[in-house]
This record gives sequence, structure tokens and C-alpha cells, in this order.
Amino acid sequence: MNPVLSISDLRARLRGPDPHAFVIDGLSLQVGRGEVVALVGESGSGKTMTAYSVLRLLPSAIQLVGGEILLGGQDVVGMEARQLREVRGTLASIIFQEPMTSLNPLMTIERQIAEMLLTHGKTTRQTAPARVIELLELVRMPDARTRARQYPHSLSGGLRQRAMIALALACEPQILIADEPTTALDVTIQQQVMKLLLDLRDQLGMAILLITHDLGVVAEVADRVAVMYAGRIVEEGPVVDLLEAPRHPYTAGLLACLPDVAEAGGRLVEIPGLPPKPGSIREGCRFAPRCPSATDLCTRVSPETRIEAGRAIACHHPRMPA
Ligand SMILES: Nc1ncnc2c1ncn2[C@@H]1O[C@H](COP(=O)(O)OP(=O)(O)O)[C@@H](O)[C@H]1O
Ligand code: SF4
Ligand SMILES: [Mg+2]
Repeated sequence: MNPVLSISDLRARLRGPDPHAFVIDGLSLQVGRGEVVALVGESGSGKTMTAYSVLRLLPSAIQLVGGEILLGGQDVVGMEARQLREVRGTLASIIFQEPMTSLNPLMTIERQIAEMLLTHGKTTRQTAPARVIELLELVRMPDARTRARQYPHSLSGGLRQRAMIALALACEPQILIADEPTTALDVTIQQQVMKLLLDLRDQLGMAILLITHDLGVVAEVADRVAVMYAGRIVEEGPVVDLLEAPRHPYTAGLLACLPDVAEAGGRLVEIPGLPPKPGSIREGCRFAPRCPSATDLCTRVSPETRIEAGRAIACHHPRMPA
């Protein structure tokens, strides 16, 4: 079956004099129908810019310069503005850490969801109010009828998150892109929102691309994991395989930072050093300056991505499978 989202060899760079300042550099990723794929990596690796690329929402400082993005089989890179407006919300929706990025402070929750439905021809003026309540109930908004008439600032952080999810789901997208959706919430609310997203996946059959730095959440909810470093996917595979037996030194380093390793008596270590700035490494593997397994080859030649037994790995010296 065709994937819902298929990204091939995507490249985006900072506008400006340096033609090598790539923030996304040859990224390929697919998400199947109903699949939950987690995209993980340190801050600055390009996860949010990847999410923005899919709906062509990149900030003006960043320019798409190559590659292909297919959403439900349609080419997003070549799309006109009018087509893009149709696709946003109906094929793919994005939710963010900060709900006010999506919600309009000057409109009631009911009005914003109704406008979304009406713009995309998903309801009529007569049926809109009932559909809005249905959507708010779908995201388990308590006392939906009262909340519908409120403005976003009257809701708690957790309820605002639910309102944003209802808005994102209003036009039944095939894929929901969730960029650190629960990072700003306290732990109990985080768990409720993640459970809600998974229930919605089961109920609506939509796929989820989940961007998170929380490997505990990844272990619980993802079917597959893609690990991103300096604009590229360095390792990808089924969640259990990848978390139990990381083969790329960067994945292994990230997992060594997991708190329960510390609880088990291991030391909680950060990977020493920082990710490279866009354009600062022109040759070889971008992880080489921080990699304990780096060799002379690594500093000269950028590793190609190889696919072995359902795992994709971009490394000259991957760990051997157990
Ligand atoms: N608005 C922007 N203008 C210029 N550079 C940006 C902007 N947003 C992000 N970047 C740069 O793009 C790179 C990737 O950032 P981002 O996708 O936000 O990373 P992540 O989401 O993985 O933390 C970083 O080097 C960051 O500095
Ligand atoms: S290619 Fe070399 S430097 Fe890069 S991750 Fe693999 S071993 Fe480390
Ligand atoms: Mg981000």
C-alpha cells in the first residue's frame, strides 16, 4: 500500500551566502497508513523544519532546495498556494507544543473549528455547531458545550491542547504531525494527551509523525523510530529493535542518556560536544567529531544509508546486530 507520507532526499538550507548551510540534508522518510513514526534527535537537528516542510510552512529564512514530498500521493513541493491551503488540515495537520501557535486568541473555540470545517466544505452553517461539539467530545473535552463558547485563554494548558487537537482533526487528515505536543504539560496531562492521540489513531485510522525528545514516550507509542542528526536520518527501524539494539553510535549515545540507565546504577551521560552548525562540516560524517568509533574514513567520506533487515543505517562502522 502507498504510504501516507513519503519524503525522498529532501534538502533545505538557510538563505544567504553559504550554499552549504543545509538544515535538512538528504532526508528520506516514509509513514504508512495508521502508523506511528517517532522522529527523535537532539535540539537543532532539523525535526521541526522537517515537519514544516511537509506543509510548506518553512520560515522565510529557510528555503527548500531539493527532493520530493508526497502527501497521499500528491507532490507538495510543486504545489500552488491554493492547493496547499486545501491540503493543510485535510491531508495533514500539525500540532505544536504551544497551542496558541494554532489557536486564535480572538475567536471562541467553536468559531475557529467551525470556520475550519466551512472553509474546507466539511459542514454547513446549520450542521457546524453539532459537528464542533462532536469533535470536542472526540478529544474528550470536559463539558464540551460550555468550553465551545469560551476563548482559548479561559482554558487550562491541557484543555487548550485538546482544543488544538480538535481543530487539527476537524477535516479528518490522513496524518497528524505532532511536534513535541506534550513537552510543556505536566506529566499526568502529558500521559492523557498521548493516550488520546493513540486512541484517535485507532478510531480514525490516521497516521502520526511524532516528534519528541522523550524516548520513554517513543517506547510506549511508536511503531517505528527515525533518528535524526544534523539534517539527516542516521538510523531508522522498528521501535523494539532500535531501542534494544541501536546500531548507529548516535542512537547508542542518545539511549545512554536515558534516565532509567541512571536509575539502574549507570551514569547519566550526555553525548559530549554539540551538533554542528548548518554548513560547518563539509566532508565526512557529521557525527565524527563526537563519535567514539570515528576512523579516518569517517572524517573523509560521508556514509551512505544502507538498508539491512528492515533497518536503515548511515554509518561506516555500525554496531553488529546481536
Ligand atoms: N526561523 C529560523 N531561521 C533561521 N534558522 C532557523 C530557524 N528555525 C530553525 N532554524 C535552524 O534550523 C536548524 C534546525 O532547527 P529545528 O528544525 O528547529 O530543530 P529541532 O526541531 O530538531 O530542534 C537549526 O540549526 C536552527 O538553528
Ligand atoms: S560513520 Fe564513523 S563517525 Fe559517523 S557515526 Fe559511523 S562510526 Fe561514527
Ligand atoms: Mg523542534
